[in-house]
Amino acid sequence: MSSQSAKERPESLQFPFLDDEDTISTLKESKTFFILRGLPGSGKSTLAQAIQDRYKDACKVISVDNYKITPAIRSSIPEEYSKVDEDLVDYCKRDISIIVLDDTHHERERLDQIFDIADKYRYKVIFAEPKTPWRMDCSQLKEKNQWKLSAEDLKKMKPSLEKEFLPMYFGWFLSKRSSENLRKVGQLFLDELGSLKAFKKESKYFAFAIEDPKVKVDLTSYFVKRPPGVLHCTTKFTEFGKAPGAEEYAQQEAVKASYGKGFTLSISALFITTKTVGARVELNEQQLLLWPGDVDKLLSTDNLPKGSRAHITLGCANGVEAVQTGLDLLEFVKLEKAGNKGEEVGEIGGGKLQYFDNGMWMLVLSKKIDVRAIFSGYYGKGKLVPTQSTNKRGSAFSSCTII
Ligand code: 2AM
Repeated sequence: MSSQSAKERPESLQFPFLDDEDTISTLKESKTFFILRGLPGSGKSTLAQAIQDRYKDACKVISVDNYKITPAIRSSIPEEYSKVDEDLVDYCKRDISIIVLDDTHHERERLDQIFDIADKYRYKVIFAEPKTPWRMDCSQLKEKNQWKLSAEDLKKMKPSLEKEFLPMYFGWFLSKRSSENLRKVGQLFLDELGSLKAFKKESKYFAFAIEDPKVKVDLTSYFVKRPPGVLHCTTKFTEFGKAPGAEEYAQQEAVKASYGKGFTLSISALFITTKTVGARVELNEQQLLLWPGDVDKLLSTDNLPKGSRAHITLGCANGVEAVQTGLDLLEFVKLEKAGNKGEEVGEIGGGKLQYFDNGMWMLVLSKKIDVRAIFSGYYGKGKLVPTQSTNKRGSAFSSCTII
């Protein structure tokens, strides 16, 4: 079947991942679970088919209808899901770009199983709900659902699907390709810095005291943890709806319209402190619409430009939480605002190196790096995981601007 164009497609099937070319090409170089959500008969399978038509061989659909699982309110997750997960993991191992999960997804316990698999295989997650006018109308759904569920059965399932499922945080999630390339750039930065005489002289801040010019400071082992899943730039930490302003943020028009949409983020610098290593992100006007108003400060009296905290965590030292990277970047921004531009140490691969004392180093890139990302949410447990050092080095700095 040929893909329908946006004009031909009904309004209920208009989504950035079906219509927007930038989003589609970013998703093709990413690994994504589309978790469809909604009552039986609401139009999930039609949506799954539209995604399949759009992404063709890059996409696999897993419909629980094929595993003889009946949607219902129940006390435990049916055994049949282990077969679903076997197939899901098989697709993950094959690095299938788009995996569509067609199920009601009304049970938190089942969703948690999926989020664990997403983290393990580094897939991002996009929730998608059919926009059909009858999606919450149990009397119409009763006629449309293939399981012949009664309006009463459907009503029981409705409350858990009516409430929007908020993530641990919203943010931009890098494509697999951009993630891998940015990791390489970060790795190269740590390698170069660790070999630098000026850095070794100051290595006491990192609990190293290396005087021997032949010995390199192993910063890769120092920054031993990274956030789970794919590299990301957090916008709003919503803590599954518990954080102040979480609901208000999720309800914003810009947030709703951008969910599941592709963006290109610009990276202007890389930085390390004794606690974290990260990439500084420069947001454009459109991206700033998704930036919360209350996160660019360390003290309530701080008055820093909107977006000052925008960053991508690349790694954390032992015992440090990922939230620290944004706080560390704000320290740099505060110093800059106070007129302290750091001591110019010289040029290293990719840009100018500045030292701000106390083990705070920033590499201002001579050529900004663009990375492609999807605006979505992170729904898993969020525990930091050990860094896997990539041994594939190479000329990451000299590569093209979009990585
Ligand atoms: P970050 O790397 O962008 O700073 C999981 O803990 C993720 O949530 C971390 O990667 C961190 O993102 C973000 N995070 C944790 N606590 C946060 C907080 N209080 N405010 C903002 N982001 C937070």
